[in-house]
Amino acid sequence: MDRIETLLAAMTLDEKIGQLTMMSSNLAVTGPVLPGDVTEGIRAGRIGSLFNHWGPERVRETQRLAVEETRLKIPLFFAFDVIHGHRTIFPIPLAEAALFSPELWERTAREAAMEAAEDGLDLVFSPMLDIARDPRWGRISEGPGEDPWLGSRIAEAKVHGYQTADLAAPDAVAACAKHYLAYGAALAGRDYNSADVSDHAIREVYLPPFAAALAAGAATVMPAFNDVAGVPMTANARLLRGTLLGELGFDGAVISDYNAIMELLPHGVAGDAVEAAALALKAGVDMDMMSGAYAAGLPKALERGLVTQDEIDDAVRRVLRLKQRLGLFDDPYRRVVAVPDAFHAAERRRLAREVAAKSIVLLTNKGVLPLATSAKRIAVIGPLADARSEMLGSWAGAGRWEEAVTILEGVKAALPQAEIAYVPGTEIETGGDAGIAAAVQAARGADVVLLCVGEAAIMSGEAASRARPELPGRQRNLAEAVLDLGVPVVTLLTSGRPLMLPWLFERAAAVAATWFLGHEAGHAVADVLTGAVNPSGRLPVTWPRDVGQVPIYFGERNTGRPTDPDQHYTSKYIDIPATPQFAFGHGLSYSRFALSDLRLSAPMLRPGETLTVEVTVTNTGAVAGEETVLLFIHDPVASVARPLLELKGMAKAALAPGRKQVLSLALAAEALAFPGLDLKPVLEAGEIEILVGTRAERSELLSAMIRVEV
Ligand code: NOJ
Repeated sequence: MDRIETLLAAMTLDEKIGQLTMMSSNLAVTGPVLPGDVTEGIRAGRIGSLFNHWGPERVRETQRLAVEETRLKIPLFFAFDVIHGHRTIFPIPLAEAALFSPELWERTAREAAMEAAEDGLDLVFSPMLDIARDPRWGRISEGPGEDPWLGSRIAEAKVHGYQTADLAAPDAVAACAKHYLAYGAALAGRDYNSADVSDHAIREVYLPPFAAALAAGAATVMPAFNDVAGVPMTANARLLRGTLLGELGFDGAVISDYNAIMELLPHGVAGDAVEAAALALKAGVDMDMMSGAYAAGLPKALERGLVTQDEIDDAVRRVLRLKQRLGLFDDPYRRVVAVPDAFHAAERRRLAREVAAKSIVLLTNKGVLPLATSAKRIAVIGPLADARSEMLGSWAGAGRWEEAVTILEGVKAALPQAEIAYVPGTEIETGGDAGIAAAVQAARGADVVLLCVGEAAIMSGEAASRARPELPGRQRNLAEAVLDLGVPVVTLLTSGRPLMLPWLFERAAAVAATWFLGHEAGHAVADVLTGAVNPSGRLPVTWPRDVGQVPIYFGERNTGRPTDPDQHYTSKYIDIPATPQFAFGHGLSYSRFALSDLRLSAPMLRPGETLTVEVTVTNTGAVAGEETVLLFIHDPVASVARPLLELKGMAKAALAPGRKQVLSLALAAEALAFPGLDLKPVLEAGEIEILVGTRAERSELLSAMIRVEV
């Protein structure tokens, strides 16, 4: 018998349920139910894993309790929300999505994993793979944006970065693909709300990033808080046991979200802890995070015949297998190192700066950027200019906000000769107008104003939905007072989501989405302002003009009455345009690029074949820069109406001025398949349009047709 079966045979029911119980330590608060002292529970074998617990000494001592003082000496595993870095904080995931770079996505995950492992962690609750098309939802900041193909590429890169090829390696940590499923479709953008999505949308939009994470080997999955059509995901046997475990063959562990099993009561599908525990276990949830329902309810559920011993054993097996894959049975202290690696810390800061600068999306620029060397007098205005504690954004791991570089500091360091006046003008959310006059005064004599406005870190992330994603507090008054002066205003927008500010986009000399960029925020912003870095970030979400357009995304369908502003009976608004403020993929550069010569390797594609799509990119600008080229398809006639554009590929060209490069993108016939009438993937014969360009703006794309033969 192998180790797991031997252990299982020796375990009491209580010890088994202990392995299914994950408790929080009190180092961080990430949910509504607060932890008590866990020491006794560990000694008694009633806890299988601890989260919100890190630090070599602490982890070593806690692990010692498990492997020396419990009857069966089964090691714990330690977990934490390492979402965009552990100690060195990188940009928030939505900002990183703007990189369109699998290589950088993987590198930041790798560095985060190394730091996490050094701190004794075995598992990170990441990547967050919820496709989100509603900026009201605060958690849009934690995910990959609106597109399932992009989300899938991020999923793979992150899983590889965290886990490496060998999950047992001392510097590898287990990934947790979350939140399964359709959490991003929360109705009205209100966190935790129901998602009433069709099976088709599940197949086409919400499932693919999870399938990609699984294919990359993700060790664990976390079900989402929401219900899908009335069945909470924590109890959703059809989508968990059926789709995830059955169809996708997931053989890792399923870890509930925080208190989610007990929340089956307020959801209205369980009457007590016994029913809740039974529903979750039967659905395929192996571990109970912080709800206590398994401990309180599983013994009775077993007695009443609501669950079987086999079902409990099976869940325990999955948890023990995870511990085995993590190498914990061989050395329970393998991820605890006494001395953090100082050399790497400096390297990581360099990477954090590079990635942060590349995550910035230059939304508008009327020629003011990069800053002219003649701009000597600079007024830095706004409540986010020197806001050290806001720079990391939500879920900042064990990162210290005190170590973040503010925008003001970054600009001062980059422009030592400039005369820099700084006035906050107002506060982010609460301040009044009293400081605006001083800000106007400082701006009046300046060559250029850097206006630093946006959201506080706590305004996005979990439980941070906003009905009006605009500038909070009195920041609009401040902005308008400064804009009225006629001095060029460069706006640096700190936010975890697209903010709807059409007036600002119209009036500012330039606007850059600077998200929450992490520890190196200020340096990264300065790098882009000065032109030391030529901006290359691209929007991973469609940026709406108005909250009334939400949900807005490029993968919409044509409808029977396609949008036409000049025709009455068409799909549009009568008060605002139906088009977005900025399309998916939008992002300006200091170079200009021209795309030409779209060439396809064949006019026809059959199953098993791969089409090569070539396009020439020329840097027609005056400085070196990087362009991202996107490959879309459109299937004009199919058994199920297809989206107007579907993203299928991306490639980058880094070019000196005047230089050109032929980019080559591969498109496998299978990538043209879609969920058919029976929801199974189908590749249909017919014409497919191939479209290539830099953003999801149909009129700008180069296009050609191919025929698919099956
Ligand atoms: C709740 C969040 O939904 C989830 O993303 C997180 O991993 C857990 N809390 C643990 O903190």
